[in-house]
Amino acid sequence: MKILLLAGDGIGPEIMAEAEKVLAALNLTVTLDRALVGGAAYEATGHPLPPETLAKAEAADAILFGAVGDPRFDSVERHLRPEQAILGLRSELGLFANLRPAKLFAGLEDSSALRPEVAAAIDLLIVRELNGDVYFGEKGTRTTASGEREGYDVMSYSESEVRRIAHVAFRAAQGRQKRLCSVDKANVLETSQLWRDVVIEVAADYPDVALTHMYVDNAAMQLVRNPGQFDVVVTGNLFGDILSDQASMCVGSIGLLASASLSEGKQGLYEPIHGSAPDIAGKGIANPLAMILSLAMLLRHSGGDEASAARIETAVGQVLADGCRGADLGGNMGTAALGDAVVSVLNG
Ligand code: IPM
Ligand code: MG
Repeated sequence: MKILLLAGDGIGPEIMAEAEKVLAALNLTVTLDRALVGGAAYEATGHPLPPETLAKAEAADAILFGAVGDPRFDSVERHLRPEQAILGLRSELGLFANLRPAKLFAGLEDSSALRPEVAAAIDLLIVRELNGDVYFGEKGTRTTASGEREGYDVMSYSESEVRRIAHVAFRAAQGRQKRLCSVDKANVLETSQLWRDVVIEVAADYPDVALTHMYVDNAAMQLVRNPGQFDVVVTGNLFGDILSDQASMCVGSIGLLASASLSEGKQGLYEPIHGSAPDIAGKGIANPLAMILSLAMLLRHSGGDEASAARIETAVGQVLADGCRGADLGGNMGTAALGDAVVSVLNG
């Protein structure tokens, strides 16, 4: 398997180093390559997703991605900002299906923003559409007839886009508790009404899955009121972005949630759901566990190596059960110490 490592900006390189330690400890036969991405690539080449990085990504079986974003480049033109690198990879590689699992690790009940007994029940999977929606619609600023500046971003979904993500979500539900909740805003948005109609059509192929629908505002409320009610949640790009950050605090820290971005084939990009955290970059205190769990998802989905994926996830669970905590969870273990703890469980 050819894996491309894209560490990116901020805490990206620090947490990537820990994922590499874990990969090395597994002694797998993989080929590693590296490239610049995000602000780091913009600084070196003038573009956040340079052609050589994109070419390497296209040639890789899987991409392990750190994070992009650097406040130094917040005022450059939008198409040259660091964030465009991840958006470009998602669209150029057709990575339309984003899987964001959220499950409470034993021992973290008191770290959740929710009451322990509410948090304990969390075991859900957010299936976020990643190639469409307001993220990729026409956007710009214009001047209205009255001379005011106006910004706009067009939200749209075609039925084929909804259908393919719905199939991914139904299949995921079949492998879990067979419950799928589709989240939309069909009471206000035409895009959402079409989304809902198409999801209902696709449901005919999955009679064993119980489908429900929820408006996104209610879903945000239910996610903190009773998150245990959710099994698989399928939603659009923008709603999925927001709800997955919210889910992360329900399990204790945004430093714990991994994600897989998949295309129709086996290729995938794997990244923590958090960003580059420029405020703590370079301090050696970032939580590397979401990055390490992203490596597990890579081995499972692109490598077909369920055994290694499970070994990593069990080791992370063990490290947390042993009481290892970084600053994000109120402890004082640094990035490298947490990575070493996972490696030592794996070597144990
Ligand atoms: C995420 C991030 C990205 C997104 C940003 C960095 C463009 O927030 O992966 O959730 O909005 O999708
Ligand atoms: Mg996000």
